Amino acid sequence: MRQSSARNLALAALQRWRKQKNRADAIISKFLAETTLSAADRAFALELFYGVLRNLSVLDFWIARLRNSRFEVLLGDIVRLGLYQLFFLGIPEHAALNETVELAPKRGRSLVNAILRSAVRQRNELSSAVADQPLSVRQSHPQFLIARWEKNFGSQATEALCQWNNRPPPLYARINELKIEREKFFRLYPDAQPFGGGENFVEFTTFPTDALGQGHCYIQDPSTAIACRLLDPQPGEKILDACAAPGGKTSYIAELMENRGALVACDRDPERLATLDQNVAQLGTAIVRTFQVDWSRRIIPKQIAALAPFDRLLVDAPCSNTGVMRRRVDVRWRLRPADFASLQKQQLEILCSLYGLLRPGGVLVYSTCSLEPEENEQVAQQLRHELPALRETARESSFPFRDRIDGAFAARLIRASWP
Ligand SMILES: C[S@@+](CC[C@H](N)C(=O)[O-])C[C@H]1O[C@@H](n2cnc3c(N)ncnc32)[C@H](O)[C@@H]1O
Repeated sequence: MRQSSARNLALAALQRWRKQKNRADAIISKFLAETTLSAADRAFALELFYGVLRNLSVLDFWIARLRNSRFEVLLGDIVRLGLYQLFFLGIPEHAALNETVELAPKRGRSLVNAILRSAVRQRNELSSAVADQPLSVRQSHPQFLIARWEKNFGSQATEALCQWNNRPPPLYARINELKIEREKFFRLYPDAQPFGGGENFVEFTTFPTDALGQGHCYIQDPSTAIACRLLDPQPGEKILDACAAPGGKTSYIAELMENRGALVACDRDPERLATLDQNVAQLGTAIVRTFQVDWSRRIIPKQIAALAPFDRLLVDAPCSNTGVMRRRVDVRWRLRPADFASLQKQQLEILCSLYGLLRPGGVLVYSTCSLEPEENEQVAQQLRHELPALRETARESSFPFRDRIDGAFAARLIRASWP
């Protein structure tokens, strides 16, 4: 599909998101893959699309003050795009107004024009009115999330978390030492700045197309290292990565194993598994075998049973993603209060169906990118209750408001040596 402008593309993506409630990143990636826009226009389209999704409540608050009756969904999104350009991006009024009004069908242009002009006139009043609103409006998050975070983390941390979720994430990558030594990496890619201490993570200011093309690094947040660190994979071992796609942790585990041993990577989603295959090949891993498995069926495929028992299992479970909401911008609009309990059920189901594959004395790491106790500590606790042969030996978490990286949780459990 060709889009005549970045604004057009952002609008089409917003409309698709409303209809399908598909993941926002999947939708915009598809649009970008099909467009002939320049790199700068693509970046602008992304900024508009994610910017509107991040700030939906504020934009709707302004719309409610500018117009007291409802209007059609398409015109609503066009006005949101206009307000976002005017109030968040500081785009000159004539450009923001004219180009945005043009997006509307003829029947809606005068209405869009009138609302945006009125917003320009009331700029100061609108901005200060938001400052008096509750956090859910000021930072555009659903009230039920704010309430649970305030209860779990306190109000200061919750405010900091919401602000974090609304800032575009930096570009972090992990150096792939299977293909390149650290010193050489920094010589070849001077744009890369080391991140934190010890780990192989770097921050880029521009997209590292060459480094990725060579398999010299993989785009990944430093928080993802926590689970791999607790797993502590050793060269020559047999390891199962149960929910592995698209392969960020699999490829890091292969690197920590120095490409020696056997690494079985499973996932239930065939498309994501195909991406994993591409990623691990690009990164030069030689020990990964992939299998499509849905662990919730509680049936262990014969090929995997034949490879058991494993020295270590990683279960990087499907979760609410509340730790990575600055990257998964629309998660906040899709989550429902009942999701945490149903995710906990799924997580325990996956863990229990896999447990038999672990050798006595072996290590199981359970990890999520959630901040919610229901999906983290409570799952680890319930697991120990259901499987008393498991003993928890370590637990680590990261919180954006405390650690300045994405949120993550990992617990390491050891299976008792008796069978
Ligand atoms: C958090 S993501 C894994 C991310 C991956 N470990 C990485 O580092 O790139 C969770 C994965 O679990 C998979 N999944 C969800 N339910 C599953 C199930 N019942 N059986 C197997 N895989 C499942 C999803 O398709 C998704 O790819």
